[in-house]
Amino acid sequence: MSFFTVEPATPRLNRSELAVPGTNPKLFEKAAAAPVDIIFLDLEDAVAPDEKEQARKNIIQGLNEVDWRGKTMSVRINGLDTHYMYRDVVDVVEQAGHKLDLIMIPKVGTAADVYALDMLVTQIQTAKRQPKRIGFELIIETALGMMNIDAIAGASKRNESLSFGVADYSASTKARTTNIGGANPDYAVLTDKDGAGNRAAHWGDMWHYALNRLVVAARANGLRPLDGPFGDFSDAEGYKSSARRAAVLGCEGKWAIHPSQVALANEVFSPAEAELTKARRVIAAMEQAQREGKGAVALDGRLIDIASIRQAEVMVKKAEMIAGQGR
Ligand code: GLV
Ligand code: MG
Repeated sequence: MSFFTVEPATPRLNRSELAVPGTNPKLFEKAAAAPVDIIFLDLEDAVAPDEKEQARKNIIQGLNEVDWRGKTMSVRINGLDTHYMYRDVVDVVEQAGHKLDLIMIPKVGTAADVYALDMLVTQIQTAKRQPKRIGFELIIETALGMMNIDAIAGASKRNESLSFGVADYSASTKARTTNIGGANPDYAVLTDKDGAGNRAAHWGDMWHYALNRLVVAARANGLRPLDGPFGDFSDAEGYKSSARRAAVLGCEGKWAIHPSQVALANEVFSPAEAELTKARRVIAAMEQAQREGKGAVALDGRLIDIASIRQAEVMVKKAEMIAGQGR
């Protein structure tokens, strides 16, 4: 282990993160009843320019009046390149900051973007005597943001998570996509011919580099890496497969752009019962080994060591958080 200590962000369950447009307060009650870990009320891309002001009012009222049933609440503000952003922050934090856990910052391009927001939010929270520190969720969704991702991830103590915003990222990098977050058959390799002269096309994951880069930057800074949207909400299997490959890389959760995707994300990002049983056995076996002064032991014919115990502990802790939230 390095002598350098990575401080983990405030621990929160973040398997599912539901996007709810600020324009439609009727959806607030529905979202509050959903078994979702984090809700973000949107002021950005789901809201047309002439609706921004009303959406802001709806969100302030919603944060103050809806019973969110203990859920982690976030608001996605407009980008730093718009003239909406300062009012989003000033009005929402001044009038509902005590009800807010997180601010989601879209299209972060440089560490200075995060610094600027930190300064503004800190001034408002200090002036309004709000003791609870509002955290930041940062969306990495531009080529600039991806290039500066390490500095961005370490830019503020408020930082809690990095989300991969695949839709805007495609626009920014001019990637050829078919549907948001989905695969593209053109991103494939052809096998050599077999005996009968046939060749198969193996699809690749065109988002692999970006997502993996984000996981590394997030984890190296103690933040939660999150996979962003999957546009085709009628394709549950496609969503789950997309979520599974993100989970395999180390992501903590995935966005839901439709309530039907919440349960899918919760399922994929919760430890399975069999994995949990195994994790508990690993911990027990290692405790026994340590009592006997051994660094590694065999369990079910496989070597387990100190690294195995860390992985097992992470899993058991997550299961405890899920049980504690009752969802
Ligand atoms: C999310 O904001 C995205 O652009 O994918
Ligand atoms: Mg976006």
